[in-house]
Amino acid sequence: MKFGHFDDKNREYVITNPQTPWPWINYLGNEDFFSLISNTAGGYTFYKDAKFRRLTRYRYNNVPMDSGGKYFYIKDNDTVWSPGWKPCKTKLDKYECRHGMNYTNILGEKNGVTASVLYFVPLKTWAEIQKLTLTNNTKEIKKLKVFSFVEWCLWNAASDMENFQRNFSTGEVEIEGSVIYHKTEYKERRDHYAYYSVNVPVSGYDTDRESFFGLYNGFDEPQVVADGKSKNTEAHGWSPIASHYIEVELKPGESKDFVFVLGYVENKEDEKWESKNIINKKKAKDTISRFNTVEKVDAALADLRKYWDNLLSIYSVNSGDDKLDRMVNIWNQYQCMITFCFSRSASFFESGIGRGMGFRDSNQDLTGFVHQIPERARERIIDIASTQFPDGGCYHQYQPLTKRGNNDIGGGFNDDPLWLILGTVSYIKETGDFGILEEMVPFDNDISVSRTLFDHLTVSFDHVINNLGPHGLPLIGRADWNDCLNLNCFSNDPNESFQTTENKTEGSKAESVMIAGLFVVYGRDYVELCKRLGKNDEAARAQKHVDTMVDVIKKHGWDGSWFLRAYDYYGKKIGSDENEEAKIFIESNGWCTMAGIGKEEGMCTKALDSVKERLDSKYGIVLNNPAFTKYYIEYGEISSYPAGYKENAGVFCHNNPWIMIGETVVGNGNRAWEYYKKICPSYLEEISELHKTEPYVYAQMVAGKDAFKPGEAKNSWLTGTASWNFYAVTQYMLGVRPDYDGLLIDPCIPTDMKGFTITRKFRGATYNIEVANPNGTNKGVLEVIVDGKPNNSNLLPVFGDGKEHKVKVVLG
Ligand code: BGC
Repeated sequence: MKFGHFDDKNREYVITNPQTPWPWINYLGNEDFFSLISNTAGGYTFYKDAKFRRLTRYRYNNVPMDSGGKYFYIKDNDTVWSPGWKPCKTKLDKYECRHGMNYTNILGEKNGVTASVLYFVPLKTWAEIQKLTLTNNTKEIKKLKVFSFVEWCLWNAASDMENFQRNFSTGEVEIEGSVIYHKTEYKERRDHYAYYSVNVPVSGYDTDRESFFGLYNGFDEPQVVADGKSKNTEAHGWSPIASHYIEVELKPGESKDFVFVLGYVENKEDEKWESKNIINKKKAKDTISRFNTVEKVDAALADLRKYWDNLLSIYSVNSGDDKLDRMVNIWNQYQCMITFCFSRSASFFESGIGRGMGFRDSNQDLTGFVHQIPERARERIIDIASTQFPDGGCYHQYQPLTKRGNNDIGGGFNDDPLWLILGTVSYIKETGDFGILEEMVPFDNDISVSRTLFDHLTVSFDHVINNLGPHGLPLIGRADWNDCLNLNCFSNDPNESFQTTENKTEGSKAESVMIAGLFVVYGRDYVELCKRLGKNDEAARAQKHVDTMVDVIKKHGWDGSWFLRAYDYYGKKIGSDENEEAKIFIESNGWCTMAGIGKEEGMCTKALDSVKERLDSKYGIVLNNPAFTKYYIEYGEISSYPAGYKENAGVFCHNNPWIMIGETVVGNGNRAWEYYKKICPSYLEEISELHKTEPYVYAQMVAGKDAFKPGEAKNSWLTGTASWNFYAVTQYMLGVRPDYDGLLIDPCIPTDMKGFTITRKFRGATYNIEVANPNGTNKGVLEVIVDGKPNNSNLLPVFGDGKEHKVKVVLG
């Protein structure tokens, strides 16, 4: 069953039934100021950091679900309704929510009135615009009463939810004309306030929540709306809100627009006040005046659209398969921008309070985003590297506002350092900017101990070889990519964390074959980088370690038919046929085949066949098999999950592309694409009811074959799945891959795929690439013609001439 449809021309997903199986959301803003918005107008807003600068409040996991948002109440005689159906839930005559690129338009129709609300954050603006358009489709005059509503959060979203003995006394607002200002804590330590305005005179307002709703009413029946009149309340403490009341008269056929601005201001210490206790409103007024007419709003939306036209023109495919094209050209790239902005911080599965930016996560997210805005990727790489420790280890997470490492979680995740090589190399291959390696970057944010970024890569590399275990494989530390494989934790106490409690670290022998594979892949990248910089001794030194690791994996990381996953604290195998449960894992098989370890000896194909046989399922490749059915104290959190969920044999969509890429290494395009389609959301639209999360973005996890409900997805949006799938499908499957000296053309496609065209903008030139597959092959480039002349390899040169170039590729 579907709940809407794709509108590819407008790059929108159009939801036509508000009762989606879960809130289907979108993100507004792409730089500093953000909102999350569901298809029924639920969600919240923040500036930069969803924890420390939360503008509006949200209630997680509430009953009913998705409570709180940017609501409008329309009172038409005795009928009260909302354009997004919720919160009133009055049956609508028509409903449509269009989620587009950083904007959402929600439209409702009731008793001859259409209310359409466009929500977006204009480029370079610290405010969300809401353009409400009311249209009277009847032959009579309509007299409507409109009430807006947002609820302020007292800035720190964590303490906002717990410290009520203080919070209920601190709230402060100011009201001036049609603007409501939220200034809690501004008088002391804050330099910021928020505001909510509308561009017409109001007939009333409310800022005290209980007065607006009535103490015993929910979001669906505010007392003020029922009464048809605001109370003009001024909040003192308790829970400040902002609600405007507007009386609207519409002639038959008439439309009226109202522009609401929900914004954020920072003022310098000496510019905070206009007069005693009266805040300096200048910046707010400036922003409000930038959007005080419909023309200005429409122009800002047009700019946003142009911005996305431009971003999405960098890589686009025309394959004749709409499902593939819309993912590659629109939604997957869009999701990559979102994961780049948020890492794992704020979604409808991540509260915005817990996690900041992940070290490994952000590096991986970069790979799907770097072609869009390389300058921002560059800045991110420096920010991430600045949280690294001098020995190459790193904070597992950092806070976006402060850009400082998060002490609560600390470091010790031994895969983390290697991802910095991935992030940096992806950036250089896209841009050719080797200069980034010379940037001075602090350790642990202390500039007195800065070294070049290249040195950071060296310590990343060395961190692995300085932390080897008894087999010569990398020690796992707290965990590797799989946060839940906690081999040194041994926790029996539900009050402690699986990740940060390590009571078996001393003398641990726990080793990770996944990190070993990762080390081979990024170690080779490091070697290549050294060579290009003329650091030949360093290249030779590093190469030796990589070669040794390959040998060690072959010797100690191979189980006969697949790659082992790890060795536990006692030195016992994990992911081996010897094990009772979880005999085989996806991660090590992904990385070791991506590294081509034992390819000549047939190890790669054997491992991939084992993956197919044991891990593949109708809804994707599960993480391990058979699932754990009991808790293994020596394995940690992974075995705590019920079978088939999350890291215990769920389809973890993040790592499926590792196998897809592995399949391209051995040239099995049919299988790579079969895997791709199994987890790609646009191919799952028809089973939306089961899949549950948005059909336009990837989810982190789909319940695996051992689960109660296989195929049900969770944790959509903020997942490395976005960048890895984009990376796999664009670079290894469609096979247009940036390299240091040009664009490498190396597709690996299904035998029945006849061909496709790709437009790729790369280092200042446009490549119009036409790939033909006349002989029904999987992989192998027979011929490359560039601008009418044969090119003697499958590497397209860097033209950098601002021109378009025609490339013909024949596979065979
Ligand atoms: C985390 C990743 C981790 C993955 C697997 C995700 O939730 O963000 O850092 O690699 O889970 O455990």
